[in-house]
Amino acid sequence: MELSVIILAAGKGTRMKSVLPKVMQPLAGKPLLAHVLATAQELQSSRTIVVYGHGGEVVQKHFANQDNLAWALQAEQKGTGHAVQMALSQLPETGKSLILYGDVPLTTPETLQKLLDLVVDNQKIALLTVNLANPTGYGRIVREAGLVQRIVEQKDASEQEKQITEVNTGILCVPNCHLHQWLPTLKNNNAQGEYYLTDVIALAVQQGLAVHTYQPQAAWEVEGINDKLQLSTLERVYQRLQADNLMRAGATIIDPARFDMRGTATIGMDVFFDANVLLEGDNHFGNGVKVGTNCVIKNCKIADGVEIRANSVLEDAEIGQNAQIGPFARIRPQSKIGANVHIGNFVETKNTIMADGAKANHLAYLGDSEVGERSNIGAGTITCNYDGANKFKTIIGADAFIGSNSSLIAPVVIGDGATTGAGSAISKDVPANHLAVARGIQRNIEGWNRPQKKK
Ligand code: UD1
Ligand code: MG
Repeated sequence: MELSVIILAAGKGTRMKSVLPKVMQPLAGKPLLAHVLATAQELQSSRTIVVYGHGGEVVQKHFANQDNLAWALQAEQKGTGHAVQMALSQLPETGKSLILYGDVPLTTPETLQKLLDLVVDNQKIALLTVNLANPTGYGRIVREAGLVQRIVEQKDASEQEKQITEVNTGILCVPNCHLHQWLPTLKNNNAQGEYYLTDVIALAVQQGLAVHTYQPQAAWEVEGINDKLQLSTLERVYQRLQADNLMRAGATIIDPARFDMRGTATIGMDVFFDANVLLEGDNHFGNGVKVGTNCVIKNCKIADGVEIRANSVLEDAEIGQNAQIGPFARIRPQSKIGANVHIGNFVETKNTIMADGAKANHLAYLGDSEVGERSNIGAGTITCNYDGANKFKTIIGADAFIGSNSSLIAPVVIGDGATTGAGSAISKDVPANHLAVARGIQRNIEGWNRPQKKK
């Protein structure tokens, strides 16, 4: 049966105390709704319809580029049944629909596929349920002789029904023909004055359909998020799952509770992450890469044997084999660091190529520059790449030696094997193998008396 996915996301999320709509709250750096959409995409659905409400424009704008995504406005929140009704005009008469919640981000595609597999024709519907030690607040699954009869909401439940521990997760799969038929007939004569989607279960039973249930592998799969505390709980669940996956792939993670990834990573063998590493975007770590404590790494390609020492921040960069970065290095976008390069503490690179074996071990800014093979950049070297309006390049050849505290005033070219004297302000090109000195000449003044403090 052709599959449509309907995601209910009209909730305001008052308890978030946030200007962001609830489904835009970030989990692992991306909106809750993005997680649900990614899951939906794995199910090979023909279309996904998001029912939006409060703050919907922000949500729509964020997902504007997504394929096969349709939107249905629920201007007033009159219940889950009413919400699905808002999607009906975009729903084909045939096929089946999976209803998901925009604030339940961690349901796995495997679980949902199992649920979907239970609905093979128009005579079946399937409910995702879970048994909870404390079912308070949830809709209860009422069974007779083992067969599901209906769902009763907490506020409508009798004392006896409140004892039921099997609850409705809200996630269900229904043939479209029935949604079209049943939803317009829902009544709101219940304790909350809402149109309950859950009332379709009793209708299905009345019409002789089979109501199947499936249960997720873990309770976090169906946990919803209403406030920042629940958000943080599921963030840690998600981070732990990711850490587990990386460890299964061979990474050593010294403390999975202090490991965060907001994106993806591919890894070679024996990659090591010390405590408090944060990965963002898409990263690759080659064999034997070591990442020290407190590093932040975003969208980087890191070759075999690289060591990134504590407190380094890297973004949009490539790091060559066996390079050593940090501690306290900042590798900014468009940095291409070659093999065996050493970048030490308080060195910043931006749009810079460091060829194989080059070194900048302490306190330097290398921006819009190229550093040739094996060249050594002394402590305190600054490429003066910006005149306040435009940026210029600094090109340094191979085997050059840039003396400490050199200012390289771009545009400037330093030839192969050239040397600059410490403290020089280099504004003219330096030919290969020359020494350039551009600094005040030292005078030694004999018998100099230091000023004395007045009594
Ligand atoms: C619902 C179920 C309950 C289930 C519980 C699981 C109904 C009547 N009850 O209850 O059986 O145990 O979820 O969490 O379905 N939403 C809209 N528009 C609306 C109302 C809700 O988009 O008019 C969205 C919300 O944003 C949320 C989801 O639907 O994502 C569930 O709504 P919520 O108000 O939390 O339903 P519950 O009363 O908790
Ligand atoms: Mg709820």
